Amino acid sequence: MLLNHEKVNFLHLPTPLDYLSTLSEELKIHLYIKREDMTGLGVGGNKLRKLQYFLYDAQKQGATMLLTVGGAQTNHGRLTAAVAAKYGLKCAICCVDRYPGELSANMLLDRIMGADVILEAPKPGIPEAQQLSALVARMTETYEKQGEKVYFIPVGGSNELGLLGYYECAMELTQQAKEMDLGPARIVTTVGSMGTYLGLFCGLKNEGSPLSLTGVCITPWNDDPQEHMMEYYRRAEKFYDFHMDVKLGDFDITQEYTWGAYNNPVKEVRETVCHVARKEAIILDPCYTGKTFYGMTQMIKSGVIQQGETVIFLHTGGLPGNYTPFHRSAFEEELIDGVTIL
Ligand SMILES: Cc1ncc(COP(=O)(O)O)c(C=O)c1O
Repeated sequence: MLLNHEKVNFLHLPTPLDYLSTLSEELKIHLYIKREDMTGLGVGGNKLRKLQYFLYDAQKQGATMLLTVGGAQTNHGRLTAAVAAKYGLKCAICCVDRYPGELSANMLLDRIMGADVILEAPKPGIPEAQQLSALVARMTETYEKQGEKVYFIPVGGSNELGLLGYYECAMELTQQAKEMDLGPARIVTTVGSMGTYLGLFCGLKNEGSPLSLTGVCITPWNDDPQEHMMEYYRRAEKFYDFHMDVKLGDFDITQEYTWGAYNNPVKEVRETVCHVARKEAIILDPCYTGKTFYGMTQMIKSGVIQQGETVIFLHTGGLPGNYTPFHRSAFEEELIDGVTIL
């Protein structure tokens, strides 16, 4: 029970917190990695922690089906499919997106695990959020007519309940850091739909952790992401009756490393993915963790993160993203020279 909410326990916790010796030496920091990519089901990733709480809630409500939303290559959708498969529920992933041209990466895994994927191309002149809500309403009605009881999970699992996954991770990390005598280390994490960052933020602050938190946005926001984070925090504050002093500006999040779009192909990010793989045998991804790791290295170069600091990079998963057609073909162009065909 955490903050009065139960979960279904299906993860291998705690996830490892490992020292990256080669990159530590190279970057002149003490670099640790929290292996949230090793959470178990469906190739793993950060969304499983949130899904433990959603699954409990869905079962309590007698749901027969999980329905969620995201882009065609959503990791969150793939992990929702994994949990549904494991617990005998039907699953559907609704996307306002185009067919990527082939069934590969996360979409392939969704189908392998038996989830339905519904793609509707963006309609000009209609805001995407509006189109998506209409699609969700239509599909929910369709499934309910077929006798399913649908449990809806919002994008990225980032609502008040989903926040608990990373609240709990903040407590876990605090304990691990204490046992390993890391001192006041800085956690660096990706910021997408914000649930991972805000869960960590609330967990660290509410539990009095000595760890600090820096977030790297991988999607550009039209306006100030601080305001979105604050609006989310206010909802959580009401839901959990938090009594924390939180002001706009308290969230350490940067928009400097989005590269202008969500999930776009970026040479420097692919180079980062290759570099980390070649130095530490850790596989990042081009949409989330690759951008964040690149951002972290730039923050070290510019002195935002100081030499000698202890940093915990949160590896949130995303491995299948490397097989997204346009990322995979960009990798191929750059890496094919090392393939010798005799
Ligand atoms: C691999 C990966 N990392 C990070 C994130 C961002 O997490 P959040 O949406 O909770 O901000 C996501 C979200 O989909 C993800 O799939």
